[in-house]
Amino acid sequence: MPILPDMNEEFKDKLTFWVNGKRHVVQNPDPAMTLNEWLRSQRGLTGTKVMCREGGCGCCVVMVTHSDLTNGGACSYSLNSCLCPLCSVDGWSITTVEGLGGQKGGFHPIQRRLADFNGSQCGYCSPGMVVNMYGLLNKKPLPNKQEVENHFDGHICRCTGYRPILDAMKSFAVDADPEKGGCIDIEDLNKHPCPSAGEACNGASANGVNGTSAGPLRCCQRGVTWYRPTSLAELYGLLERHSQDRYKLVCGNTAAGVYKDDGPYSCLIDIKAVPDLCNCQAGPPLVVGSAVSLSAMVDLLRAGSDRSPSYSVLADHLCKVANVSVRNVGTWAGNLMMKHAHSEFPSDVVTIMEAVGAKVTIGFRGESQTISDFLGTAMNGKVIHSLEIPAGKPEDVFRTYKVAPRSQNAHAYVNAGFRMTLDRKSDVMVVAKPCIVFGGINKTMVHAVATEDFLVGKRITDAETLRGALAVLQAELVPDESALQSAQYTKQLAMGLFYKFYLSAVGKESLTEPVRSAADSLVRPVSRGEQHFQTKESEWPLRQPMPKTSSRVQASGEAIYINDMPAMPGEVYAAFVTSTVANCRLGNMDFSQAMEIPGAVAYLTAGDVRGENNYNLPSSPVAEIFSSVEVSYAGQPVALVIADTQFHADAMAKAVQVTYTDMKPPILTIQDAITAESFHPDVMEVVKGDPKGALAAAPHRISGEVSCGSQYHFYMETQVCRCTPTEDGMDVQSATQSMDSVQASVAQVTGMSAHRVHVSVKRVGGGFGGKGPASMLPAAACAVAAQNLNRTVRLSMCLDANMEAMSKRAPYLVKYEVGFDDEGRLLAMVYNLYEDNGYSVHLSFMYLLPMSVENVYYCPNWQLTGQTCKTHTAPTTYTRAPGFIAAHFCMEHIIEHVAKTLNKDPTDIRRINMFEKGQTILSGDVLSDCNITQLWDDLLTSAQIKQRQQEIEVFNKENRWKKRGLSVVPCRYPFFPSLVRFTVFVAIYHTDGSVVITHGGIEMGQGVDTKVMQVAAATLGVPMEMVHTMSTNTLSSPNSADSGGNVTSELNCQGVLECCRRLNERINPIRQEMGGSPKWTELINACHSKGVDLSEKYMEHHPLPTLRPTYNNYGVTCTELELDVLTGEREITRSDILFDCGKSVNPDLDIGQVEGGFVFGLGYWLTEKCVYDKETGMLLTNGTWEYKPPATKDIPADLRVTLLPNSFNPCNVIRSKGVSEPVLLMSCSAMFALRQAIQSAREDSGHGDDFFPLNGPATVETCHEACLVDSSNFTL
Ligand SMILES: Cc1cc2nc3c(=O)[nH]c(=O)nc-3n(C[C@H](O)[C@H](O)[C@H](O)COP(=O)(O)OP(=O)(O)OC[C@H]3O[C@@H](n4cnc5c(N)ncnc54)[C@H](O)[C@@H]3O)c2cc1C
Ligand code: FES
Ligand code: FES
Repeated sequence: MPILPDMNEEFKDKLTFWVNGKRHVVQNPDPAMTLNEWLRSQRGLTGTKVMCREGGCGCCVVMVTHSDLTNGGACSYSLNSCLCPLCSVDGWSITTVEGLGGQKGGFHPIQRRLADFNGSQCGYCSPGMVVNMYGLLNKKPLPNKQEVENHFDGHICRCTGYRPILDAMKSFAVDADPEKGGCIDIEDLNKHPCPSAGEACNGASANGVNGTSAGPLRCCQRGVTWYRPTSLAELYGLLERHSQDRYKLVCGNTAAGVYKDDGPYSCLIDIKAVPDLCNCQAGPPLVVGSAVSLSAMVDLLRAGSDRSPSYSVLADHLCKVANVSVRNVGTWAGNLMMKHAHSEFPSDVVTIMEAVGAKVTIGFRGESQTISDFLGTAMNGKVIHSLEIPAGKPEDVFRTYKVAPRSQNAHAYVNAGFRMTLDRKSDVMVVAKPCIVFGGINKTMVHAVATEDFLVGKRITDAETLRGALAVLQAELVPDESALQSAQYTKQLAMGLFYKFYLSAVGKESLTEPVRSAADSLVRPVSRGEQHFQTKESEWPLRQPMPKTSSRVQASGEAIYINDMPAMPGEVYAAFVTSTVANCRLGNMDFSQAMEIPGAVAYLTAGDVRGENNYNLPSSPVAEIFSSVEVSYAGQPVALVIADTQFHADAMAKAVQVTYTDMKPPILTIQDAITAESFHPDVMEVVKGDPKGALAAAPHRISGEVSCGSQYHFYMETQVCRCTPTEDGMDVQSATQSMDSVQASVAQVTGMSAHRVHVSVKRVGGGFGGKGPASMLPAAACAVAAQNLNRTVRLSMCLDANMEAMSKRAPYLVKYEVGFDDEGRLLAMVYNLYEDNGYSVHLSFMYLLPMSVENVYYCPNWQLTGQTCKTHTAPTTYTRAPGFIAAHFCMEHIIEHVAKTLNKDPTDIRRINMFEKGQTILSGDVLSDCNITQLWDDLLTSAQIKQRQQEIEVFNKENRWKKRGLSVVPCRYPFFPSLVRFTVFVAIYHTDGSVVITHGGIEMGQGVDTKVMQVAAATLGVPMEMVHTMSTNTLSSPNSADSGGNVTSELNCQGVLECCRRLNERINPIRQEMGGSPKWTELINACHSKGVDLSEKYMEHHPLPTLRPTYNNYGVTCTELELDVLTGEREITRSDILFDCGKSVNPDLDIGQVEGGFVFGLGYWLTEKCVYDKETGMLLTNGTWEYKPPATKDIPADLRVTLLPNSFNPCNVIRSKGVSEPVLLMSCSAMFALRQAIQSAREDSGHGDDFFPLNGPATVETCHEACLVDSSNFTL
């Protein structure tokens, strides 16, 4: 008889749990609230960050401890608080970053090491990194380096390039160098101040486990009921009662990170506390309850691996599902149900469990069935009970595969599981029907049934069997076409995976030499790095390597970002309503459903803007905040909704009904724009010499085209702004790189004068150019709302709206004709560049081309033309090294084309074309500082390029399906601070001699605050501790330029230097009067008494009227990688970077910029692809599920960085050079290394003669396609 829980008094509605040792009781919480939201908004624990709300970035990770129903003990693990419903934490103990340590009670060793290893730049990812490590050390106090690296598969850091983070975390490993810190004592691990007790405690032992709340739970709010049954009987009772309702069983709730629009549900049933669903039996067969997490399943499989080799294969594969924090709570059953509900979902669990022959049991004592049968079973009102995983036979060959757009935390393009029973005594015969299972092919395919049938009784060592099986497989693979993945690739990849398996089944000893390595997947070692630089202690603190001064508070979560600020009285939250269609007109907007959402406050449209409905500066084209008539791109804001919480505002935005009229097909690519002649008026032409004549006369001529795509900045803190109407006007706190523009924009849209708009910025959680002028849009909208409502409004954009609405990097296409001589010397260049600026030219980078397009190569005759293209996408904007990265790549591509045409080594072609000192570039500027040949020759020697090239040649000859490539790429990056200005203010307080600085630069991770402090400390002759920087604002640093473009740190350092020099001029006479070396505090006191002005302001300004480089950065990078031809996967084995940054102000920070910039570039070239729906123009890659910035294992396994020794910048009094952008350019060395590897594969298949296009990004799919893999070449 089912229990009817609604009437059962034992169902309590009160949660009891502990956060950092402190007990919390929450009565009848909202089932929709997440732990993250509760921690941040209800408890002010904002150290735990939030960004994607998809389990895809890791910044929200906390550690939880609770009793473990599978073994009766306790378990601790990290999870993504953004996906964890608050209702599910009853009885748990939660440790957030604040619980580990901080300024007051002392930093935790993990926080200290992350900071001290320079692993925190903007700091937004840092708390998540720290807590994730804490979770690992709690589970396994003595991990090895490999285990540490594996544990960081779910965390994105957009700033550092990961190397310093991994080094910091690996310093805790048992096999780490003890000098780097060494392992941590378990007592030290948990020695952190407990907020409740005020002394050291382990959150776990203090509460959760002992105090685990028992008993069923029922909470109900706003029409949604949350149940937590504690027995199967209760669960079935609930299912019976609610089977006709929109109900959902909840276990880890991680599916909500993938399918965000499922629901709404009126009833949520948490099944984690049902003991029967947690039961496991070691077997064999191994039986795993449905509430058992994927991580626990991995542990069980590993424990049973001595009973079946299949178990370790499954465990290895499961470690490629999602990421640690998702696997810690996500269950195999939840995964199966995702596939059940969404047939297109490329579930790894379904594929591998079906391949191993696992059986799923539905309901208590239900019949077990295969997973493919389960997929066809109606599940309403039912619950998955357990999974039975057979051990398999000793003669089974069992392998699984997954190929994904990124190495970690990515869904599969295709996954596969193969099981074959072989009789090796009778000539490797297939004795039973094999299991050939694929995922990701189409909505229905699970087994390749015809191939399975074909193979029965066949001898697999026969080439005929392979050929026959491939033919059958080819016929039965019918992949779905999708905008995100071509059917051709899907098919070829599936064939390649089958071939891989086939080879491993045959066994290496029976294979010919060239195909042997094909059976293996790429192997990545534990990563390592080297950093080399010069520093003179006598100059310290100037030029002293040191982490950012704020890095420890960033690591402890105490660093405050705008969205961490406590709400002001009456503060409300806003969200953009964005269009879903491009190239149309706005029809009706119906806000009625949105206004019914609890907490709804208001909505605003174009008519509500009191000033101009134009957020752009007067010098730029009009850009409406909310479109009034025309909708140019999908994602364009059409309205703003306002509610009492961000959650409600986001819900309101989704509930607004918008209609569109006059819909026309959108133009989305440069190629389409050229065809449709959709251009903006902006054009450019520069001619040098006689390009046409020289081209006609050249001994060799080539022509071609090359392109590279867009890039989303992926700052970890999305766009955010808070506006408060004040007596003076408007107070604006904006995460902007561009205070000046935000001030002007807010003034314009509110109709106020600029002097009434006060903008301040403490720090920005990553910008990369995306928070330059682009941040005017959210600031303007927020200000309009604050003005209309006359209350504080916060606009913190959710990830998908941020990705769809905001500007990105401009894509480029270049068509070229080149003439050259027999040696490969460039003689003539006709170069037509097309820049995709979106629907309106907010910023064009074409004007930079004459300074940068040649890179380091001299060509006497040039014709350079540029054309801006109009597409129905967001207007493009600054993105780290804007325009330069594309121009540089296209030039390097041309060099490769020349080399291929002459059949010469591209390294030699590069060297003979390099500029010499004193030559003139296209802009007419003389390269008086050119040292590229020196850097080039140095790197070629130090990185042993010739020897490695020879080794690669041998490797490529010997291996048919694995290829290696190596490329060396030089770079020149012009520094052009024309018309840039920053206002700097330095004051010394007479009370204690301490020094304060505000400057016009924005601290966004690059360390400008630390560098200016170093300059001030060194110039004034005081210790660093005496100097502090305060947040910047438009009052103390008015009229300051955008921070970015490689210039901010350098110019603000120069400004501070000048202020300090002037202060010294006033202080020194008093110093002399006091005997020459008085104590600083006494000196300052005396200055004050004598009326010396102890504050100084200076505006660093470069009044060059046109764009002219004052100097150039030079660098050389070599990248080597290995490519798996059968899949398109690649592993960067080593990168060597030699970079000239002058006399570095802070080598630690500069190396941080070098590495971070390089990895940012690797993302651009290898994994980050913006894909739009062809019909609507919607961005399909609008979240972490489809858009893939590099993760920890996408960086070079061996990364060596050297700052050029004995360098010196004569153009700058600090003698340093800018560093944040140039290295990005050289990341395309990975593209050319790939080119070499792909070239070899093409040669093997008889297509070696052509120079093939390899456009950016060269995703896994692109690389595979470029290899021209043809299964007719699959041999034994
Ligand atoms: C960032 C991220 C990356 C991911 N990457 C991958 C990947 O690479 N490969 C891959 O295969 N998957 C991937 N996933 C999916 C992941 O494996 C699933 O989200 C997870 O396994 C779901 O388990 P859960 O317990 O959280 O399910 P929940 O979210 O709690 O539930 C999901 C569904 O299953 C139902 N359900 C749960 N348990 C039962 C049960 N016992 N009986 C009946 N119905 C039940 C629920 O009602 C719900 O409909 C990823 C997910 C995320 C968030
Ligand atoms: S915010 Fe939770 S994983 Fe990104
Ligand atoms: S420091 Fe990691 S995202 Fe900025």
